[in-house]
Amino acid sequence: MKPLIIANWKMKLLPQEQERLARAFVAMAKNGQDTVSLVVCPSFESIGAVGRIFKGSPIALGAQDCFWEESGAYTGEVAPRALKKLGCSYVLIGHSERRVFLGETDEIVAKKVAAAYGIPGLQPILCIGESSAIRSSAAHLDFLKKQLTAGLRLVPRTKRVPVVVAYEPLWAISTAAQLVGTRGKPITADDCGEVYNFLKKILVRIRPASATAVLYGGSVDGGNALSFVRPGIADGALVGGASVHANEMKKIIHTLSGQ
Ligand code: PGA
Repeated sequence: MKPLIIANWKMKLLPQEQERLARAFVAMAKNGQDTVSLVVCPSFESIGAVGRIFKGSPIALGAQDCFWEESGAYTGEVAPRALKKLGCSYVLIGHSERRVFLGETDEIVAKKVAAAYGIPGLQPILCIGESSAIRSSAAHLDFLKKQLTAGLRLVPRTKRVPVVVAYEPLWAISTAAQLVGTRGKPITADDCGEVYNFLKKILVRIRPASATAVLYGGSVDGGNALSFVRPGIADGALVGGASVHANEMKKIIHTLSGQ
């Protein structure tokens, strides 16, 4: 399987800036992107425009969130089927910024994951990750197991669907100061490998019929991507801060392509 690289543009750019960056990504994808699967998650207002720019390119479109109902009186929310209609094939669910700033619980995350799986061709990416307090008390594995199983709780065990999990320790996210008060710093590859193997073992047990991928996210850039995206450490990366810089993404893709 090719490494899966997800660019999460968060709420960092205005519509015109996202369209400009999307064009730069398409140009970049022409040389050397075929060794990774690249997904870009613009902010909601730009999904349509960015999707049009990506048409005919190998870059897949993703969203940063969705609601758990398919339609109805839910002011401000976005339905999974609407995302699919706009061309999204991925959707992030349970990102730590949503859990921390918007109060998303495991319960809400589980409903959103199940709703996304309800739309053929829309792949949820379940985001999980511990805080620094949990990590320093060495309770991270128990915590992650709980978040993982809770997030998949409403998807029937026998359902044969690919499962994609993004492991993002809160303290490693580049803008962690917003979340936990200290600047983010990536986890070590060994620590990432410990979590990767732990999550993979649980997934084999709880999703025996499914292909699974575990990605790493948290301060990934062109300089460190290769230390994470390799066998036994991570099947890909969720990239935030570095993903709004075309040159940094180019470096990530080139190092992973061995160029
Ligand atoms: P970062 O963000 O790469 O800026 O640390 C990752 C994420 O929050 O998805």
